[in-house]
Amino acid sequence: MAILVTGGAGFIGSHTCVELLDKDYEVVVVDNLSNSSEKSIERIKEITKKDLKFYKADILDKKALKDVFEQESIDACIHFAGLKAVGESVEKPWEYYHNNISGTLNLLEVMKEYGVKDIIFSSSATVYGTPQFVPITEKCPKGQCTNPYGWTKSMLEQILIDIQAADNEYNVILLRYFNPIGAHKSGLIGEDPKGIPNNLMPYITQVAVGKLDKLGVFGDDYDTPDGTGVRDYIHVCDLAKGHVAAISKLKEKCGLKTYNLGTGVGYSVLDIIKNFEKANGVKIPYEIKARRAGDIDKCYADASLAKKELGWQAQYGIYDMCKDSFNWQIKNPNGFED
Ligand code: NAD
Ligand code: WQD
Repeated sequence: MAILVTGGAGFIGSHTCVELLDKDYEVVVVDNLSNSSEKSIERIKEITKKDLKFYKADILDKKALKDVFEQESIDACIHFAGLKAVGESVEKPWEYYHNNISGTLNLLEVMKEYGVKDIIFSSSATVYGTPQFVPITEKCPKGQCTNPYGWTKSMLEQILIDIQAADNEYNVILLRYFNPIGAHKSGLIGEDPKGIPNNLMPYITQVAVGKLDKLGVFGDDYDTPDGTGVRDYIHVCDLAKGHVAAISKLKEKCGLKTYNLGTGVGYSVLDIIKNFEKANGVKIPYEIKARRAGDIDKCYADASLAKKELGWQAQYGIYDMCKDSFNWQIKNPNGFED
């Protein structure tokens, strides 16, 4: 069975390719490398000792996509490709809507033309906006997103829901990720942010190796036990395995399904700093700063539906997440540029 993985050179995509190859799926990656490196493709092969097909192509380029579908016998698609920087999306909504929405529409049109009706979509807990309750179940109403990036996810979910309603031969799985961190145990693939990281864990790992001086903790007056923001961090390898479980679900002709992929456990920013220091024997200097615009106080999953219906559950705890994030950073201080 051949799986098209758009965005497969990226952080979550590369880890998912490893899990798919380990389970003997054929993997075809389409990525324009706008936020990744072809080296990750080589590293996937190194880890798995297996081959995959890589097309450097933009999902905005319909002809290039058609060429891929013409040459490969695609059975299903896992669609990761997209721009994901929240702050940047506020400054460049044109780019975000164009890349994420138009790109996905292109992909969906080409899939339709080639009769491919199975798709797993990378959604996000961001679609819940300020969640009405925690832990967040899939029944929690979607909310007002605070940025164009979040709206692209929310809108794309709706587009996929409408397509599945129009043709119920489609099988669509919306996976809402919480906060992916960590890296493959080998330290060969991991998150490689360009410039100064926006997200907590890559910022911490860069402080840990001395690339950045200290962490700014965005707010200590939230409605949480220690006042800092609480999130559901999930090891990227667990997240990747969630996609393999979702592929099996597609094969059951599942129709439309939505799953939270999280651990169900919330950690504050200070919890993460403490756990990182303990796991890696390093000190993370930090200072409390003002709240970051658009942040919410707490966000963590009820992940029981994925356990019940996908037979999937996160295996790694915070120790491994901190250890593996640091291992990747130490082995690749400049990401894939080394
Ligand atoms: P990433 O940036 O590492 O990977 C995305 C990949 O898509 C990159 O390799 C990039 O080069 C590629 N890409 C972007 N636009 C493209 C285009 N037009 N054509 C072809 N390739 C294109 O990001 P990631 O963290 O691996 O995220 C993967 C997906 O999961 C994204 O859709 C993201 O929005 C979603 N997601 C991520 C998180 C997170 O915190 N990392 C959380 C929830 C959802
Ligand atoms: C985590 C916590 C910050 C950086 C984002 C997107 C979301 C999803 C996952 C894609 C918060 C605090 C952070 C720093 C800090 N992505 N923090 N200092 O904001 O929960 O989610 O990534 O879908 O859509 O919004 O993740 O890692 O940025 O922040 O104190 O330098 O760490 O305030 O409480 P977030 P994050």
